[in-house]
Amino acid sequence: MRIRCPRCHMNYRIPRGFLSQREKSSFQCEKCGEQIQLDIAAGKDSVPGPHASSCKRPEPQTRIPPKSSPDSAKVEALKSRIRMSLMGFIPPVAHVIMRAHAVMADPRAGIRDLAQVIETDPGITARALKVANSAYYGLSGKVTSITHASVLLGNRVLGEIISMAGIRGFLGEKLSGYGLDSEILWRHSLAVAIGSRLLAEKRCPEMAGDAFVTGLIHDAGMIMLDSHIYEKKDAFDEIMSAGPHSLLEGEKELLGIDHAVVGAEMFREWGLPLALVKPVQNHHFPLSSGGDLGYIVHMADILARKGGYGTGVDDTLYPMSSSAVEFMGYEDDELTTVEAEICEAVDKM
Ligand SMILES: [Fe+2]
Ligand SMILES: [Fe+2]
Repeated sequence: MRIRCPRCHMNYRIPRGFLSQREKSSFQCEKCGEQIQLDIAAGKDSVPGPHASSCKRPEPQTRIPPKSSPDSAKVEALKSRIRMSLMGFIPPVAHVIMRAHAVMADPRAGIRDLAQVIETDPGITARALKVANSAYYGLSGKVTSITHASVLLGNRVLGEIISMAGIRGFLGEKLSGYGLDSEILWRHSLAVAIGSRLLAEKRCPEMAGDAFVTGLIHDAGMIMLDSHIYEKKDAFDEIMSAGPHSLLEGEKELLGIDHAVVGAEMFREWGLPLALVKPVQNHHFPLSSGGDLGYIVHMADILARKGGYGTGVDDTLYPMSSSAVEFMGYEDDELTTVEAEICEAVDKM
């Protein structure tokens, strides 16, 4: 389906099946922030003429500033309170992610470097061994130590396992504000991590390690927003039940800020590399990410949701960015195949 933004005339090609499933729907233009209205029932393209599919990366475009929202002083005060709560919040998991990222990025890194990452935390060691012995890596019952795992799997995979083991507790919390059970965000994050790596391996293999870690942490901002949403739970539930809203839209309406921005600010505070922070901030609107990882994580996010590894609340409300589809150079049937590959990999894990 081809759609054109009425404000900035940005063209979108969104594969069928990857649009929000509401009969009358809308999504935010990645370029100018305009709410683009869709009438799925009408089923007509809003842009006439043939579309030449392209494997080329979309041309960078001048960004039109988003329409300003009617921010009140109250919303601004709330946003600063949320931002203040991020200051100085650097849990041990931050160090694990940074160290694992550094080890994966350094071809000269050895077993000793990896051991240093996990030696301080027996819990992470135990979880890492459990993952290393999962069906996903095909080594069930064979991995008995971290050293052994690094020999069998290599540094990059071991770095992934350490990231997973380190961040498991952080992402596995119950989200009372959002009304999500524990495990939901973890399963979604894991699926997006696996999907991001899979997409990166097909398009830019050198980014596979970063893609995995970024996929794993892309929605971590929800952890930080949950308590603020819980404080205004009734208002949040009212917003969400007033009409089909994605959680992202609900956050913005209630708090004036969303989990993608909060997650990115938190990771900046933790000192994570910009290469990971920017795609986190833009995973819902990858055109502004300025990086290939933004397209990859965005596509993995939508495919994971479509494959049943979403939040179960708003999975049909996020359309896939046509910029991401063009970046990957996929046709509709290829997207369906990749979606199945992601689901198979997550099931094994
Ligand atoms: Fe998100
Ligand atoms: Fe997500």
